[in-house]
Amino acid sequence: MPTRRHFLIGFVATPIVLPRLGRAAGAPAQLSLTPTCDDDDDLTPAQTEGPYFTPESPEKQDFASDTPGGERMTLAGYVLTEDCQPVAKALIELWHADESGTYDNSGYKLRGHQFTDGEGKWWFETIVPGLYTGRTRHYHLKVQRPGGSVLTTQLYFPGEPLNERDRIFNASLLLDISATSDGKFGRYDFVVA
Ligand SMILES: [Fe+2]
Repeated sequence: MPTRRHFLIGFVATPIVLPRLGRAAGAPAQLSLTPTCDDDDDLTPAQTEGPYFTPESPEKQDFASDTPGGERMTLAGYVLTEDCQPVAKALIELWHADESGTYDNSGYKLRGHQFTDGEGKWWFETIVPGLYTGRTRHYHLKVQRPGGSVLTTQLYFPGEPLNERDRIFNASLLLDISATSDGKFGRYDFVVA
């Protein structure tokens, strides 16, 4: 089984194919290396920020040293316009609970931001967040293209038993998750105004 790094290298190395084309020729379908754009790509829905956002997070792509525990997970995707054009230098901010469902509210563990590369790609190395009372499993994110407004939203895991009982959950914010030999690889493409 391929590793998380294998998936990430495949994602990063594959040039974006535009316009409005599904996958690169010959790429394994499950890797979904290029954005799958169609005529009805809606804006990524906004969601509540929740009570645990801390401003001024560090620029940080690898959260691995922030926690010794938890299942490793690589998160990756594009930031796109409604016309399926990749957005370079878009801000992506991620914060989430640790493996026991606890947020670091005094520091910046499992909190960080980065900017998309020239092809609109972003990726974080982190862990699968733990559950806490009242919510299904989720990540929190903020996304902002240069000159655009801030999109605050959350991402979810398919197949979570608590998804259907979570009043904030939105199925259009489900990650596309692949199992790897050393954790999970999750893909999501944001579409921003
Ligand atoms: Fe949360």
